[in-house]
Amino acid sequence: MRIWVLHGPNLNLLGTRETAVYGPQTLSDINSEIAAFADENSVKIETFQSNSEGGLVDRIQAAPSSGVDAIVINAAAYTHTSIAIRDALLAVGLPAVEVHLSNIYRREAFRHRSRIADVVIGQVSGFGPQSYLLGILGAMRHVSEKMGKQ
Ligand code: DQA
Repeated sequence: MRIWVLHGPNLNLLGTRETAVYGPQTLSDINSEIAAFADENSVKIETFQSNSEGGLVDRIQAAPSSGVDAIVINAAAYTHTSIAIRDALLAVGLPAVEVHLSNIYRREAFRHRSRIADVVIGQVSGFGPQSYLLGILGAMRHVSEKMGKQ
């Protein structure tokens, strides 16, 4: 099974960025945890970060021809604004899981709306770096159940 984990804008600054909200871990710490989880669970996981909406759209579009089974995405601020990312997820039609480090519903009202929440399998929000692992687990279970039914 192959899963792509996509990180959106400003997540490259984790570790120094608003640590009271996002915690002390850097993106590379989180990617290492994801890599360890991938090894333990015998799943192929690649991580990718972009500060640009187009960069994320290009990557989503590339997923089907790269043999990807599911996408786990923290679209960061684009979560709340990006119809382009929503449309890309719909266009490729792969199962996707939305993740957030912080609980977006405990924060400012503009963060309560996600443009992708209704086109993904589910959302994990508020568990810090563990949100990614929980999201990956959800995506893995979804894909294996689907494979089992084929
Ligand atoms: C975030 C939440 C978003 O509202 C914010 O713009 C981010 C990070 C999170 O992981 O908690 O950049 O997606």
